[in-house]
Amino acid sequence: NGKYTVTLIPGDGIGPEISQSIKDIYVAAQVPIQWEEVDVTPILKNGKTVIPDNAIASVKRNTVALKGPLATPIGKGHVSLNLTLRRTFNLFANVRPCASIKGFKTPYDNVNTVLIRENTEGEYSGIEHEIVDGVVQSIKLITWDASERVARYAFNYARTSGRKRVTAVHKANIMKMSDGMFLSACREVSKEFPDVAYDEDLLDRVCLQIVTNPQPYSDRVMVMPNLYGDILSDMCAGLIGGLGLTPSGNIGRDASIFEAVHGKGLANPTALLLSSLMMLRHMNLFEYADKIEKAALSTIAEGKTITGDLGGKASTKEYTDAIIRKLRV
Ligand code: IPM
Ligand code: MN
Repeated sequence: NGKYTVTLIPGDGIGPEISQSIKDIYVAAQVPIQWEEVDVTPILKNGKTVIPDNAIASVKRNTVALKGPLATPIGKGHVSLNLTLRRTFNLFANVRPCASIKGFKTPYDNVNTVLIRENTEGEYSGIEHEIVDGVVQSIKLITWDASERVARYAFNYARTSGRKRVTAVHKANIMKMSDGMFLSACREVSKEFPDVAYDEDLLDRVCLQIVTNPQPYSDRVMVMPNLYGDILSDMCAGLIGGLGLTPSGNIGRDASIFEAVHGKGLANPTALLLSSLMMLRHMNLFEYADKIEKAALSTIAEGKTITGDLGGKASTKEYTDAIIRKLRV
């Protein structure tokens, strides 16, 4: 029927409601996508909690998925489903663009960062043990292959998006071996890209610089190990108005999952919508992405029908309908 099939993982909490917004907006914009909705609530299998097979199979088959927020338990409890998905499909690069939104006032109006986070290892390797009572060890695992792979992705991203520089963000002054090797991999890869400048900067310094003046970071792509990317991307999100506004794409060779990374209580569908637009561009459906983006950003810029987290009074549905009205004109 000439349509693309995409897996939809609505998520929990507000997830189903903001997913409905995306579905409604896509109908209004006549995006040629049909959704295959799956539930990833973990089930018990041989004493282990796992994601249901049909959800895994759906993402495998369609190779593209959109995912709403999923709660991750803190401390004890099952392994994060978010991480399980990233691991299952080897989604090695997590792309997090973050740009000021016109009309929505924050102390900054010039944020335009792209952060690429290694997405499979580092402190997220999940290798932890209590050596003796009161002494716990968590392994930060860094491999040359994963470092090289995400570095190459970052350089390619810079080249194709017209960004002129890749900055590797690190703490190799302290993590001499692990971050040191990450940097070596970036340096090696940089030789393949003579048209893209390369430099390195310390994570703490970058934090200080960005909150002081984000402007210099708008010309480049930042690449870094997993945990640094997790933290720095939230910091960037804070500069533009929070996690309700920032998209995220988990890229792998065989599948990619686009997701909102905020918790399950936030009723702003913008992050999920913008993530879905990354997805459309990934699928080369640029026209639809541009059209929807324009409608959403102008709705926010007008400031009349915006959600509570942005200082407005609109419900998720009212905000969604305002976007849809713009798509119809
Ligand atoms: C993110 C989230 C996840 C992470 C959590 C929910 C496991 O914070 O995508 O940034 O830590 O990576
Ligand atoms: Mn995070």
